Amino acid sequence: MPDATFHFPRGFRWGTATSSHQVEGNNTNNQWSRWEADGHTDGMSGLACDWWNGRWREDFDRAMEAGQSAHRLSVEWSRIQPAPDRWDEDALERYRNMLRGLKDRRMTPMVTLHHFTDPLWLTQREAWESENVAELFEKFVRKTVDALKEYCTLWCTINEPNIYSVIGFVYGSFPPGAHDVNRATLVQANMLKGHARAYHAIHEIQADARVGYALAYRPFTAKRAWSPLDAWSRTVADRALNRAFPSAISTGTMQAAIGSVPVPEARNTQDFLGINYYTSQQVAFSLTSPRSLFATAGFPSGADMSPNNFIANKPEGFYQTLKWAVRTYPGTPIFVTENGVEDAADGMRPRYLAQHIHQMWRAVNFNWPIEGYFHWSLVDNFEWERGWSQRFGLWALDVETQRRTKRRSADLYAEICRENGLSSAMVRKYCPEVFDKLFPV
Ligand code: FCB
Repeated sequence: MPDATFHFPRGFRWGTATSSHQVEGNNTNNQWSRWEADGHTDGMSGLACDWWNGRWREDFDRAMEAGQSAHRLSVEWSRIQPAPDRWDEDALERYRNMLRGLKDRRMTPMVTLHHFTDPLWLTQREAWESENVAELFEKFVRKTVDALKEYCTLWCTINEPNIYSVIGFVYGSFPPGAHDVNRATLVQANMLKGHARAYHAIHEIQADARVGYALAYRPFTAKRAWSPLDAWSRTVADRALNRAFPSAISTGTMQAAIGSVPVPEARNTQDFLGINYYTSQQVAFSLTSPRSLFATAGFPSGADMSPNNFIANKPEGFYQTLKWAVRTYPGTPIFVTENGVEDAADGMRPRYLAQHIHQMWRAVNFNWPIEGYFHWSLVDNFEWERGWSQRFGLWALDVETQRRTKRRSADLYAEICRENGLSSAMVRKYCPEVFDKLFPV
């Protein structure tokens, strides 16, 4: 049996990612809490992981003890600015404590400024459809970055603007539950404007800041290779999800699902690109799906599926995604800002993790400037409309008792972090079923 280790460059960052609404608990002043109260989610976020009461301390201890050197978290706009004319200094102080907590544990923070949630007052003013939302976002960003700048230089302006707009305004399972491509396009354009303003504001406030955003990237193929209709649907899906934001950052014109929108201020507003990669999909034309522009996405039969059939284990798609990123932005640093799988029993996660790290290793071997990897997630947390039905944590959470239980994948990931690499011994120990794939002789 071969004995080998896939090493990563010195200084590579290993961590996990979380977001405010999913872990803090008692977030009652944003649109997601309203969406939950209206019965659109599988359970309520409730106490979540109870970070707002301080349980971040024990979770950061877990991360540190498991060899992690970074953590990506988000701040909650609705807490920091509970009303248009009010800032909550106590909330900012709590975030300062959290970031100090990371520093004390020698973990590099990355702070996301918008991760799906909007203050209710903003929702009442049309949120990201409103004309002045970019300006409002900039005000919030200035206040927040100024308060936190002592502890953080890595800023992610907006998490997955493509998912926020497409799932909220085309598929409708995120608030506001709309089915209107034009509204989705308007939201994306406004998010680009907000991102661009935030980019410049952060650089004004902090000389050594590095600013990017997190893109959910999902490679699509046509379901029937011979079908021109499937090929067309594939292009629509690809444009809607994968191209809109990046095209504007490259050229100042957003290539939307249909048509294009000039957003000149967005050009060249990224110091790094955050990539969230979970899976790849096949797209087919479907006459019965006008709401999703006649495209339906699915997984090939026989794929290695996660327990909720939410994610197919497609590690090669991760490599393709990273390749797309370096080709699109030569020289721009990349962080993998999310990657993971929902798997309460932890039967699939060890191989998913090992196979994705292996593909990322292939990528760093071409000297592609990938600086770090944030696994989603540290502890099970509230998965949006899927609520508590999906468990992405390296640690399991008992929502009733707040008890955490380590999954085997946490040990595998700890070995990877400590080694700064993935070894054949780890694969043999945690996921022997893929040994021959990763170490063929
Ligand atoms: C991403 C989100 C993150 C989490 C994972 C599973 O789309 O950014 O909050 O829900 O999916």
